[in-house]
Amino acid sequence: MKTICVMGLGYIGLPTASVFASNGFQVLGVDVDRQVVDAVNAGHVHIEEPGLKTLVSAAVGSGNLRAATAPDKADVFIVAVPTPLNDDDKTADMRFVREATEAIVPLLEPGGLVILESTSPPGTCRNLVAPILETSGLELGRDLYLAHCPERVLPGRILSELIGNDRIVGGYNDTSAQLAKELYAAFVEGEILLTEITTAEMVKIVENTFRDVNIAFANETALLCESLGIDFWQVAELASRHPRVNVHRAGPGVGGHCISVDPWFLVEQFPQDAALIHAARLRNDAMPAHVVRRTLEILGGADHPKVAALGLAFKGNVDDLRGSPALAVVESLRAEGVNVAVHDYFVRQAPFELAGLDACFENADCVLLLTDHADYKYVDPRQVAELVRTRALFDTRHLLDHDDWRAAGFAVMLLGSGRA
Ligand SMILES: NC(=O)c1ccc[n+]([C@@H]2O[C@H](COP(=O)([O-])OP(=O)(O)OC[C@H]3O[C@@H](n4cnc5c(N)ncnc54)[C@H](O)[C@@H]3O)[C@@H](O)[C@H]2O)c1
Repeated sequence: MKTICVMGLGYIGLPTASVFASNGFQVLGVDVDRQVVDAVNAGHVHIEEPGLKTLVSAAVGSGNLRAATAPDKADVFIVAVPTPLNDDDKTADMRFVREATEAIVPLLEPGGLVILESTSPPGTCRNLVAPILETSGLELGRDLYLAHCPERVLPGRILSELIGNDRIVGGYNDTSAQLAKELYAAFVEGEILLTEITTAEMVKIVENTFRDVNIAFANETALLCESLGIDFWQVAELASRHPRVNVHRAGPGVGGHCISVDPWFLVEQFPQDAALIHAARLRNDAMPAHVVRRTLEILGGADHPKVAALGLAFKGNVDDLRGSPALAVVESLRAEGVNVAVHDYFVRQAPFELAGLDACFENADCVLLLTDHADYKYVDPRQVAELVRTRALFDTRHLLDHDDWRAAGFAVMLLGSGRA
């Protein structure tokens, strides 16, 4: 296994391709987006990820990595294309996996290995990928091998986690799993654990669903605490002193392209039996509307109200807007006629113009913290107090030092707290 063709050069495919290339493999990275291909061939990167630019430009410079818009023959094909949801009915859109798999069929040769890295509904490898591959005339498990190796990296730490994390390798048969393990052993320092292919698909979905359901539990508990007039954060902290309890954090909703997406794959497949998972998704998706309701209450009948929204990204310290609950809150408040100025330290491309910090606070009737970018902790509430029209803070992430804000004259409201 010397040559590798990686289908899809996004957050997963590009780091994977360049790590293999820097470990001596000849790697062809393939993307349907010509701009991505041109950028990679010039040694540039189109995504923000610490260390990636240096790695890609070294890999391209060494001659081990090049990019193209069409695949070529290789010993190993790695498919790392998107697996989003269809907007209308929340079903899995498997178009990219299907197209990428079809594109490699004419290039397959006996002894080849195909690896699906895309997060996929359980059963995808056996029911979608395998039948397409077998149109090559090669018999899977005998002439051709197939494995699923899901990714569990965290954006912002992709390169170190790619190497350090334990890795699940699911094989179509034992030889497929062994071959994939040998391949990843070239750079993976974590443990490589072998299993059957559908199990590996389910493991990845279970990881993200576990987090979604636990966050939904925290969010639901937070709403109950608000109604009880008590503080969820204190309840969660004290309950988590139990040796077998770990209550997750509540917040304005769950976004991104993993945790808020993957549980739907199970809901689609098991509409009756995945009732808990479905309810958790709905609970998390309903949180932005709750934040909007409380913000409107805080604004009361203010004349031409203005909100200073801090953060637009779906979580702290990233620039990613995909599925962001902060974006949903801002859009709904604007639909209610509220003037919302939005600041974000990381987001560069938003669907509307972002404000500088001072302009954001100017004449605001409520400071609404939506994203837990760490730097918001260093905003000085005494300076903010000079800029706003009404001193009110609604913290939906439990991020800020509320004593400081109170000392600066602010009324402080906290998501999950029903205390006056
Ligand atoms: N980004 C993450 O943190 C992360 C973590 C774990 C798993 N995943 C999973 O990995 C998969 C890829 O995610 P991503 O974040 O890298 O996506 P991405 O959108 O960043 O990149 C995917 C790339 O694939 C390209 N593409 C689409 N169809 C293609 C085709 N037929 N042939 C070649 N290229 C094609 C797109 O142009 C795009 O550049 C998804 O299933 C995702 O759920 C992502």
